[in-house]
Amino acid sequence: MQIFTGKVALMDYLKSISTPNCTIGFVPTMGALHQGHLALMQRSLSENTATVVSIFVNPTQFNNAEDLAKYPRTLTADVDKMEALNSNIIVYAPTVEDIYEGNTVSKSFDFDGLENQMEGQFRPGHFDGVGTIVKRLFEIVQPTNAYFGEKDFQQLQIVKKLVDKNHLNVTIVGCPIFREVNQLAMSSRNERLTAQERDEATVIFETLSEVKARFNTDSIERLNNWVKSVFEKNPTFDLEYFVIADEATLQTQTNIEAGKNYRAFIAVYVNNIRLIDTISLN
Ligand code: PAF
Repeated sequence: MQIFTGKVALMDYLKSISTPNCTIGFVPTMGALHQGHLALMQRSLSENTATVVSIFVNPTQFNNAEDLAKYPRTLTADVDKMEALNSNIIVYAPTVEDIYEGNTVSKSFDFDGLENQMEGQFRPGHFDGVGTIVKRLFEIVQPTNAYFGEKDFQQLQIVKKLVDKNHLNVTIVGCPIFREVNQLAMSSRNERLTAQERDEATVIFETLSEVKARFNTDSIERLNNWVKSVFEKNPTFDLEYFVIADEATLQTQTNIEAGKNYRAFIAVYVNNIRLIDTISLN
């Protein structure tokens, strides 16, 4: 398996294997790989000549120093998982210096307001950090197709906007959420949960599923109040937000109108660990 820690060597290697009709699939990650990441890689492997996976805990997208410090870093285990999946995967695991070259700051982006909703409200600067790293990684890897999970649905929409606005020559492929047996959305942060917290976190998807079931009969106000009451009664969780939004604009909705696609979004804290999930409602 080819593992690169420097962009120059990676770019040279990609040039050396390039052929006229070859395609490069790219799966950007922050490591601590789980089944969800492996599913993205599997899809990339099946659709491209070569697949590059990046593993980089990007400091500029963290607005909380504790979250950055505690983010799991498990490169050896990650490499083993990729090796077991397919030893043709090309790994790029750069240092902060290799990416930021001594200037570890975000660029400022305008994503037509997508960045101001939900995660953007609660994690100031987060999407500038995501935009900065994704654009940088695209410049280095020059992928034909790039694969992102729908768990971070807002990120997925923002990356599509980044590509549109900057006329980048890459197709963004959104992939379904991968869930644990208890339906908890797979996330690298799940590693920090105790077995009991993981178990109890089943309430997140149960609540979203119930919202979906009631979406055609209840008003958005009633659904918002019901979700609040579920989490108020549950001392393990701290609800940060629950929002029903227009899937295209990500703007919070208060009424249901014909012809729009709606999606529910949730962020909760379990013992300082932040979990997010989302479900399409119609
Ligand atoms: O979704 C993630 O893991 C990160 O936000 C990404 C896309 C790898 C950028 O750091």
